[in-house]
Amino acid sequence: MDSVISHLKSNFNTYLEELKEYLRIKSISTLDANRSDMIKCADFVADKLRHAGMSRVEIFQTARHPIVYGEWLGQPGKPTVLIYGHYDVQPVDPLDLWHSDPFEPVIHDEKIWARGANDNKGQNYVHIKSVDAYFKTLGTLPLNVKFLFEGEEEIGSESLTSFLKTHQELLKCDSVLVSDTSMYGRGIPTITYGLRGLLYMEVEMTGPDKDLHSGSFGGAVANPINELAKLISKLHDKNGKITVPNFYNGVQKLSKAEKENFKRLKFSENAYAKEVGVKKLHGEKGFTTLEKLWTRPTLDCNGIIGGFTEIGAKTVLPSKAKAKISMRLVPNQDPLKIAKDFAKYVKSLVPQSVKLDVKMLHYGYPAVVPFGSKALNAGAKATAKAYGKKTVFTREGGSISIVVDFIKNLKAPVVLMGFGLDSDDIHSPNEHFLLENFEKGLYASAYFLDEFSKA
Ligand code: BES
Ligand code: MN
Repeated sequence: MDSVISHLKSNFNTYLEELKEYLRIKSISTLDANRSDMIKCADFVADKLRHAGMSRVEIFQTARHPIVYGEWLGQPGKPTVLIYGHYDVQPVDPLDLWHSDPFEPVIHDEKIWARGANDNKGQNYVHIKSVDAYFKTLGTLPLNVKFLFEGEEEIGSESLTSFLKTHQELLKCDSVLVSDTSMYGRGIPTITYGLRGLLYMEVEMTGPDKDLHSGSFGGAVANPINELAKLISKLHDKNGKITVPNFYNGVQKLSKAEKENFKRLKFSENAYAKEVGVKKLHGEKGFTTLEKLWTRPTLDCNGIIGGFTEIGAKTVLPSKAKAKISMRLVPNQDPLKIAKDFAKYVKSLVPQSVKLDVKMLHYGYPAVVPFGSKALNAGAKATAKAYGKKTVFTREGGSISIVVDFIKNLKAPVVLMGFGLDSDDIHSPNEHFLLENFEKGLYASAYFLDEFSKA
């Protein structure tokens, strides 16, 4: 074990150079223009898995982006861990807010800066290299390993969801290891046990069938931007509750044990407000910030499109306005059911002077992983060893759609062992990853394989 860790230590700079290469690939899953980059990135991952000693590596084509699978099953009788990661990244706009090219990684201030540096290339690469280090030093692994990397996490994991159903035997394992979450704070080893789900909708409002002069027609013809704004404003009540019928059905109260656990985390509302740069925090009445972020469902408008948006003035009554609206969901909420209720409700809110089209873009179920599994304990031990501190357990506000399918289809405990920080600006301009976490992540991964092999 010591030799593995010291190998990881002495090869750190090489790993960093390889990570840079990974980060240069513009694997933006949502944009059709980047299709070939997705293929290139899948090839890159497959190549690194082969180099890391996987005896079988395969790229599976899907309806959208390829899935990369790798395995080494040379320890029959020992447990099998399935390591999941996603090689796709979010778009980079607004580009002018980046201090350097999002796809030309740079290192400064003890961080690596690029789109995907944290989410998820930096985080998933640690596992490939820890496996590699075992083979280079000990010539073997302490247990069986399967790798599963997808290219659609940022757009809802549709292909992997069906792949899981059709490849249960191939993916059979005793635990799933995922590094795609945040640490509770810098230097605090963290295992996450809950993620919110997601429902992403798009509503398009149409007024007149073409853009009109706002003087000749304004006042007599409905303006879809005005009406859309009214509609959005009706989706929350004055207490911050979401007004969609049946929305809160089944949402559970927080257990006493969880409340206690949250308390122990000593969350500072002031420090948090300062960190995000707001004067005052906001949200549903009657809940603490951690409860709001981790255990309560929310609704947010993610983008709004319509009318004249160039520099200068144009007097126009637009024909159309569009809003992208997403909801974060918690256990017992069913995104497909809520999508129906949402569509019906928003349609009921608009006047006859406009038309409303409602579309679902994607969805994912919420997940809470049970405490007490051998895998979770191994994860907590491994991160504690890597960081030299006791591991804390958190839930998260973000979503990883496939986690629930791992639980349902593979029936294996999922270990969410994150090395990111909430301040790493994932999905934002200037995404970065602390070199310290890249390094400790490598160690934690190696410790996990060791700990779980003995579990
Ligand atoms: N890594 C994130 C999820 C995450 C972020 C979990 C921070 C915990 C803390 C993941 O890549 C992500 O961004 N997921 C999307 C999923 C969606 C597009 C289906 C999300 O949460 O918006
Ligand atoms: Mn992401």
